[in-house]
This record gives sequence, C-alpha cells and structure tokens, in this order.
Amino acid sequence: MDDPRSAQMAALADEVRNLRASPLYEFRVANRYKPVIGEGSLDAFIMFIGEAPGEAEAKSGRPFVGASGRLLDELLRGIGLERSSVYITNVVKDRPPENRDPTREEIELYTPILLRQIDIIRPKVIVTLGRFALAFMLDLLGIRPPEAKISKLHGQVLQGVAPYGPVSLVPLFHPAVALYSTPSKATLVKDFQVLKQFL
Ligand code: URA
Repeated sequence: MDDPRSAQMAALADEVRNLRASPLYEFRVANRYKPVIGEGSLDAFIMFIGEAPGEAEAKSGRPFVGASGRLLDELLRGIGLERSSVYITNVVKDRPPENRDPTREEIELYTPILLRQIDIIRPKVIVTLGRFALAFMLDLLGIRPPEAKISKLHGQVLQGVAPYGPVSLVPLFHPAVALYSTPSKATLVKDFQVLKQFL
C-alpha cells in the first residue's frame, strides 16, 4: 500500500464499517451484509456513481454485481471500456431494506464519504446512474440547469467545477430501469456512446 490514496480509501472503508449512526447499520449486521465502498482504479479518468447496493452487492461487498451490474458490464463492453479502468461506487454504501429509495438522512450521512472518494480519485468525468447520484453531483458541481430532471439531462455532457478542478458530468438512467424495458435499454445503449469521446 505505497500509494497514500490506497491508505485513504482503506481508512474510509473502516469508517463506513463502523458507521453505527447509519439507520442501515443494524440491517447490515442482522443480515451479515457488507458495506459496499466502491471498486476500480484510483487513477480512473471516469467515475460511475450509482444509488445504493442491492442484495447481491451487500452480500459480496462489491458494487454493481447483480442484475444491474451485469447490464452495466455489457454497456461498458459495448463501448470498449474496461471495468477495471474506471471507479464504481454509490451515493449510499449500505443496502436499504427491500431496495427502497435512500432517505434524505441516509444520503446526508454517507455524503462526506463520497466527497472524500471523489477527492481521492479526482476523476475528470463523472457518470451518474439514476436520479439520486445526479442530484448529488449537480449540487456538488454547482450546475443549475433550467430543468434538473434526469429525463431532460440523460445522455448530455454538462460542465462543472469540483473542488479540485473542472469535471464533465454525464447523467445516465440507472441500469435497473432498463432491465425490464427494451426502449429504456436502447436509450441507455445510445447514451453510453457519449462516453466514447473520453476514451
Ligand atoms: N444499484 C445501484 O445503484 N448500485 C449498485 O451497486 C447495485 C445496484
């Protein structure tokens, strides 16, 4: 662990493991779930941010390894982007019961963790998967589009400024919406093409 960033990530993972203040902590422990910190390259040019772990993720401790993850892998392969070359994480690091939406309180609690992850990796491109990650990033980058809705912004490249410098924000639909809807999958496949300019 020569890279100080690996140590920073490990410290942050420890903090999440011990985050008893989280309303999701008891649920994690009772089910022998793991927190899902994130995975990928600390040198990633592109960072993907989802919503919260599902069951497969909470069991394995890895982001996007269930059905949504398989679709994400397919989408990455489709544009020739190696999963290991990007960094993948979520707004909330513990699984909400029944995969319900994360609450405002939960999002606020895990926010400092995600902010530190972004600052450790300093990606030039941030891809949000779904509306929770989009709202988070619009806030962080100070981007105020006339209509801050995912249905308006998906597949666009928005320019913003993170504390460490300029960032391109690419809002995409969450892969889960595409699992059972062929038109949504076609939209996601098309929207993914916008990432090719960064490869
Ligand atoms: N959905 C998410 O938002 N994140 C995951 O890690 C898995 C499914």
